[in-house]
Amino acid sequence: MKRVAILISGGGSNMVSLVDSMTGDHPARPVLVLSNNADAGGLAKAAERGIPTAVVDHRPHRGDRAAFEAELIKVIDDARPDILCLAGFMRILTEGFTGHYAGRMINIHPSLLPKYRGLHTHARAIEAGETEAGCTVHEVTAELDDGPILGQARVPIRPDDTPEALASRVLVQEHRLYPMALRRFAEGNRTTFDLPAD
Ligand code: GRF
Repeated sequence: MKRVAILISGGGSNMVSLVDSMTGDHPARPVLVLSNNADAGGLAKAAERGIPTAVVDHRPHRGDRAAFEAELIKVIDDARPDILCLAGFMRILTEGFTGHYAGRMINIHPSLLPKYRGLHTHARAIEAGETEAGCTVHEVTAELDDGPILGQARVPIRPDDTPEALASRVLVQEHRLYPMALRRFAEGNRTTFDLPAD
């Protein structure tokens, strides 16, 4: 049984989808939900589901990423995870951290990578006149939003779309894509897949 730690910074809707998918014959189970933000709404949702939670606040380590990451690693490794899932985790991680979890850390990003790495992905896609947006689950490497792609879901952009409206439609697909990608990853299947339309 693979042990999964999930890192969040906010509401944790992707974390909830992952946790709720790890039942029955699923080869993985959640062992920790960690946030850099003590006020993250996802912490209560994890606790409601009986998942151990932890907070490692980045602010005392402001300006010293290595110290923050050393504290993260200590707390995370206490839970002995086989897989790390970043799910709305909003801190940049350096090679010191990504190297420590190389080959066993995945992330969900709200764009069709390699397009629109970084922030404000939906506003940028609309601004650029794209006809479709979406989300990507990828392996995490030292390069931001750049590792091998595991799965993608495509979402049409509508003529009058606002970033908020598009984001909410993409989020629905994130909640389908990430659990499927995690299950395949936990089964040792790293082939790329496109999420079928629901
Ligand atoms: C989502 O758009 C996700 O793509 C990004 O963070 C946002 C919030 O996710 N990584 P969540 O509701 O906190 O899971």
